[in-house]
Amino acid sequence: MKAIVLKEVGEPRNLILTEVPVPKIKDNEVLVRVKAVAINPVDAFVRRNQPALEMIYAMKGDEENIILGWDVAGIVIEAGSAVRRFKAGDEVFGNFNFIGQANAYAEFVAAPQDELTIKPANVSFEQAAGATMAALTAWASLVKFAKVKKGDKIIIYGASGGVGHYAVQIAKYFGAYVIGVASGENKDFVLGLGADEFFDYKIQAVEDFINDADIVHDAVWVEAEVNSTEDTHLQRSLKTLKEGGILSSIVVYPDQLFTDKAKADKNVTVQRVNVTPNDSYLKDIEAIAQLLSDGKIKTHISHLFPLADMAKAHEIIQTKNTVGKIILVP
Ligand SMILES: NC(=O)c1ccc[n+]([C@@H]2O[C@H](COP(=O)([O-])OP(=O)(O)OC[C@H]3O[C@@H](n4cnc5c(N)ncnc54)[C@H](OP(=O)(O)O)[C@@H]3O)[C@@H](O)[C@H]2O)c1
Repeated sequence: MKAIVLKEVGEPRNLILTEVPVPKIKDNEVLVRVKAVAINPVDAFVRRNQPALEMIYAMKGDEENIILGWDVAGIVIEAGSAVRRFKAGDEVFGNFNFIGQANAYAEFVAAPQDELTIKPANVSFEQAAGATMAALTAWASLVKFAKVKKGDKIIIYGASGGVGHYAVQIAKYFGAYVIGVASGENKDFVLGLGADEFFDYKIQAVEDFINDADIVHDAVWVEAEVNSTEDTHLQRSLKTLKEGGILSSIVVYPDQLFTDKAKADKNVTVQRVNVTPNDSYLKDIEAIAQLLSDGKIKTHISHLFPLADMAKAHEIIQTKNTVGKIILVP
């Protein structure tokens, strides 16, 4: 089969279309013919960073081929002897083996049955592949951690991106009042997703205008913050929250000092939220499937590439300015 192999840690051009063996499945796995793959910023991070590759890809050092990617939609071809949830012909999607090796940039993948769910028949493979890591992160941040509810005022940073564009739609689904933050050129896109207000982070500091938000979904790491005496992005987010608010950070790990002070000064609860599969993974991905099926959330696909164009896709995802999702099809 064809797969995209990372020849060496470094630039996107190191991602090479290569002929490799079809993976063998374990008892609890299914062999999936991949119909669509989604990529995320972490893919580019791992591609160019050896320690991150070793940690997030769980590199053992004996890999014949390093194949990245964790988000797929496809068709079950074969089921292992312990598989009860799926049979050949089922259309499935999911984010699997994260943290670890999912080897998703390929024509076929071996995926554990417990990290896939049935793709709704009225949802395309491309739509479903997008709504995996990014949608699950938005869900983990807003629904599981922040427990968003009707009438909440919520600020969503990175509202035009992969995670953010699902976050806006999920928050609106729960009846929240949504303030989206992104670049001015993406204003119409974010408002079109249902956001009630928009701020352009390049020309406006949200904390100059808002101090009574119930929830902030913070998805921003600003390089210039390092060794700066200016407020960090999390400190700025804290200013926009009301007493008793919730600060969900999907990028920066808040330190204990910050977390304790936010609690003491403003009774704000702060947490770094992760997509890493947990007890509720299946419940969460099934909830996403239902929202897709009901048309409550949609994947905005800004770029649809053949799998062979993975290097091009990585050039875009590493800009940190992707609109919606980039999808590749084998
Ligand atoms: N915790 C987890 O488990 C988890 C899971 C998935 C992703 N993440 C992380 O979450 C972040 C977002 O992921 P993604 O997939 O949404 O990335 P993405 O698709 O690249 O989107 C990035 C978004 O950030 C916006 N942005 C960039 N700088 C900003 C700033 N200073 N203020 C406000 N918005 C800014 C961009 O807006 P414009 O393009 O409009 O400027 C864009 O909407 C990444 O750092 C990713 O690694 C974490």
